[in-house]
Amino acid sequence: MSTKILSQKFYSAMDKLLPRYPTKQALLLPALHEAQEETRWLSSEVMAEIAAYLDMHPAKVREVASFYTMYNLQPVGKYHVKLCTNAACMLRGADKLLERCEAKLGIRCGETTADNRFTLMEEECLGACGTAPAMMFNDDYVENLTPAKIDELLAKQ
Ligand code: FES
Repeated sequence: MSTKILSQKFYSAMDKLLPRYPTKQALLLPALHEAQEETRWLSSEVMAEIAAYLDMHPAKVREVASFYTMYNLQPVGKYHVKLCTNAACMLRGADKLLERCEAKLGIRCGETTADNRFTLMEEECLGACGTAPAMMFNDDYVENLTPAKIDELLAKQ
């Protein structure tokens, strides 16, 4: 029997949610979310554990998790910077902001700093087009981005 990675807190939260969903499998998105809260990213082992709990095939869990960019299928740093480079943000200088982040952090987009503090990624539309350019800094939205805002935010961490 393999050792569980996810905590009792995870299982308690899922058991509590279960009656609100029509099927056990319908709990997949909340389960992925809760697991990621705990482990920061969804390894194959974590997805297999979720699959076992939900009586699903692990491939199905991976298929769903890989569809949504909010789920991390690779390890991420303590601070996860997701900069939108879709149309509205691009028209308002997202490419330059991405270059600025890369220069400040000393990494390329898609990479994590050697000290595991920052991961930088491009993101699809964050739904904040009216306040573009926008990015997510962990779970927080940062809108009307400017180079100065990026400098300030990165320096504060
Ligand atoms: S295009 Fe960037 S938030 Fe919509």
